[in-house]
Amino acid sequence: MNILVTGGAGFIGTNFIRHALAIRPDWRIVNLDALTYAGNPANFEDLAPDQAERYRFIHGDIGDASLIERIFSEEDIQGIIHFAAESHVDRSILGPEKFLKTNIIGTFRLLHASLNFWKTMGRPEEFRFLHISTDEVYGSLGSEGYFTENTPYDPSSPYSASKAASDHFVNAYFRTYDLPTLITNCSNNYGPFQFPEKLIPLMILNILEKKSLPVYGDGKNVRDWLYVIDHCDALIRVFEQGKPGETYNIGGGAERQNIEIVYLLCDLMDKRLGRSGSKSSRNLIHFVTDRPGHDFRYAIDSAKIKQELEWSPHHRFEDALGNTVDWYLNHMDWVNSVRSGAYRKWIEINYQERENS
Ligand code: NAD
Ligand code: DAU
Repeated sequence: MNILVTGGAGFIGTNFIRHALAIRPDWRIVNLDALTYAGNPANFEDLAPDQAERYRFIHGDIGDASLIERIFSEEDIQGIIHFAAESHVDRSILGPEKFLKTNIIGTFRLLHASLNFWKTMGRPEEFRFLHISTDEVYGSLGSEGYFTENTPYDPSSPYSASKAASDHFVNAYFRTYDLPTLITNCSNNYGPFQFPEKLIPLMILNILEKKSLPVYGDGKNVRDWLYVIDHCDALIRVFEQGKPGETYNIGGGAERQNIEIVYLLCDLMDKRLGRSGSKSSRNLIHFVTDRPGHDFRYAIDSAKIKQELEWSPHHRFEDALGNTVDWYLNHMDWVNSVRSGAYRKWIEINYQERENS
């Protein structure tokens, strides 16, 4: 089984490829990644030899139609798992255009090249295009209720608007051309290899370095957290057993306010660093100017994937968060390698104004 994974050098893609190579010995994976600030090809340097043999990296853009065609003709691709995206909400607020280019135009080009290939391939009934999307397309919940697969789309940020548009194109390619597509809409992931611009790794590293912990607004916004390996298991199930044309929501069932997460991380880190009393990391917390258009609450109803594909998350939130903290503390070489000059500039731009207000 030859699978094209896009965006496999980012957070979820890296975890997915490493996990899939380990548990699916008959899979060979071609990873196409443009290596933006968020992609790191070194994430695969330590693959075991039998896994490294089944892995190929190609540096390139999903919007490059001739490259995609070349990959299809060189490799006997039987399925696509599409992670590549600009993924950070705050970056989409400061510079939306890249999000349209990759998330909308890039996805469209990938779909169209896939359609051309699918029409001419042998065994077209085995082909699958799995599009990885987000619960943010549904907009914001109040303090009650859950997102189901039938919740109307109502995206708030340029990021979620671009993901919503890409989902519509994926569905259009199923309805109009019969391309066997599947969509997953997932809640917030956490775990190893996440770029330290997102809440959990940013807080872990700021606590370690005794920097300010910037909590947006009053810290009461709620996210539904899912350990990344549980997400990867769900994706394998949808890819192998999902019904083309369908959407599957995936959630962790672990709703927490942001401030609860930050407190928990302070406590987990303090235990490991021997800090307490007046030295507690909780003293580093600063409430800063809110994210514009900040969605209040996300919470997923995962009943469909649980019932139809017998998936459920296996990792307990507090345990997996502790393991994530340990992963970062034990991989400071990885952290330092992804914190380029561009990273430092981003942190400066995003937080300077917030801290000053
Ligand atoms: P990420 O930002 O860590 O990684 C994105 C990867 O895509 C990077 O390796 C980057 O180099 C690559 N990329 C970007 N533009 C590209 C292009 N034009 N061509 C080829 N490669 C390109 O993102 P992530 O957190 O791993 O998210 C992966 C996918 O999952 C995204 O589609 C995102 O919308 C979705 N998602 C993420 C979460 C989450 O909590 N992180 C939750 C639900 C859904
Ligand atoms: O819900 C799925 C989405 O989860 C994915 O589609 C996105 O790709 C992913 O980035 C994530 O989006 P969020 O905006 O929820 O994640 P982020 O880690 O940026 O923020 C989580 C919450 O923490 C959010 O309410 C904003 C808040 N926050 C974030 C940062 C970076 C802070 O309070 N302070 C911060 O410094």
